Amino acid sequence: MDKVDVLMLGTGEYTTGYVGGKAADSDKGAGVVALTMFDLRRRNKVNRVGMCGVNGKKFPGIRQHMQRCIGDVYGGMDLTCETFPGDGEVNPKAYVDASATFKAGDVGVIFTPDDTHFDIALDCINKGMHVMVTKPIVQKLEDHQKLAKAAAEKGVLVAVEVHKRLDPFYADARDRIRGGLGNFQYMYAYMSQPKHQLETFKAWAGKSSDISYYLNSHHIDWSEWTLAGVARPIRVTATGSTGVAKGKGMDTEDSITLTVQWQNMNDKTLGCAVYTSSWAAPKSDVHSQQRFFYMGTQGEINVDQAHRGCTVSTDQAGFASVNPLFMKYTPTNGMFSGQGSYGVRSFENFIDACREVNSGSKKPSDFDDGSLATVHTTQQGTAILEAGRMSLDADGQPMDIEYDGDGHTPTAIKPHKFE
Ligand SMILES: NC(=O)c1ccc[n+]([C@@H]2O[C@H](COP(=O)([O-])OP(=O)(O)OC[C@H]3O[C@@H](n4cnc5c(N)ncnc54)[C@H](O)[C@@H]3O)[C@@H](O)[C@H]2O)c1
Repeated sequence: MDKVDVLMLGTGEYTTGYVGGKAADSDKGAGVVALTMFDLRRRNKVNRVGMCGVNGKKFPGIRQHMQRCIGDVYGGMDLTCETFPGDGEVNPKAYVDASATFKAGDVGVIFTPDDTHFDIALDCINKGMHVMVTKPIVQKLEDHQKLAKAAAEKGVLVAVEVHKRLDPFYADARDRIRGGLGNFQYMYAYMSQPKHQLETFKAWAGKSSDISYYLNSHHIDWSEWTLAGVARPIRVTATGSTGVAKGKGMDTEDSITLTVQWQNMNDKTLGCAVYTSSWAAPKSDVHSQQRFFYMGTQGEINVDQAHRGCTVSTDQAGFASVNPLFMKYTPTNGMFSGQGSYGVRSFENFIDACREVNSGSKKPSDFDDGSLATVHTTQQGTAILEAGRMSLDADGQPMDIEYDGDGHTPTAIKPHKFE
């Protein structure tokens, strides 16, 4: 199969690990996307690599950072990367010029602030590119529907980057649930980040997105994937907590809880899920707490994704619970050896799928079976997140998610009418 050319859109924490002029103070100081793409090029799956941001003045610092955190750590890693806009330029529309230098069948990987995903993705789709967008793919159901339509018209693969689907514990939980835990009864999910992340994300926190879009999106996607064909979300009620962010001058919630009513498809009985996310957590043994409890009518499962039974303690960094299943940054004999990590596999699966579509051996719709989080199979997640934001803005008003008949694809979100 032919290699693909890849344009990375966004130059921040997830792409390069470079935030505010230095390595991100998180578990991703070397970034994930660029490192993965350079390694995929080394392994002959990717050819040309480009990176596009807004402020070209950041690129000299980004190149130095990537040399220090990738080039110097993993011997022989080629960091060649075309960058947009030019080093002295600032241009929020640089993605239009950058994508114009790529061709149909190439790949766009979008890790930019949530409110920019739609325009950038649509631009790439219209150019015939396959697109992988970080979660949340978009913030509104209406925009999600437009992307799905555009992807179908252009015959390209568009998917959300939701790597928890590839976490062996989460994937096994899904298979156990679908294999015999009956109908959905109840689940709670919690995910947090330490409050210094509010500084990392100050450009958009509370202005164009919130912590629910940022973190609840993970467990909501896992639910949609796990419960596909079993249950569908029909009502969302949201509550928030405040104080920490507002104390830093940011007009946003510290924690958001979405209570989601699910309806089992076979007998119309009800299930309830409670998704809480926070960016006001204290520094801890992990960067991000992440866990859930799931109960079906015939069994239950607990997963603590943050604690994998491995702790590390050093003079420099103190005590930590680590998760090399997500990203294995430690080199083996001087080479990157994290190819089995689900942070990497998430991108590699998408690149492989695009190469299969380009070669004609598969169609984009072949991946609607749950093997990728395609734009056609993830609309419930967007509806839940948007309904949550609508509920918060309407003082806790429950929001109904509507469908055509027994369908699974939401058609609209409406304020719930009390009889
Ligand atoms: N940081 C993480 O751990 C993580 C993990 C998974 C997903 N995400 C998602 O990634 C997205 C943000 O990425 P990040 O965490 O790297 O954030 P970040 O704030 O560190 O970086 C955002 C980047 O987007 C760029 N950008 C903004 N507007 C743009 C435009 N019009 N064209 C091109 N680039 C533009 C900025 O220049 C910056 O490089 C969010 O949607 C978030 O939900 C982040």
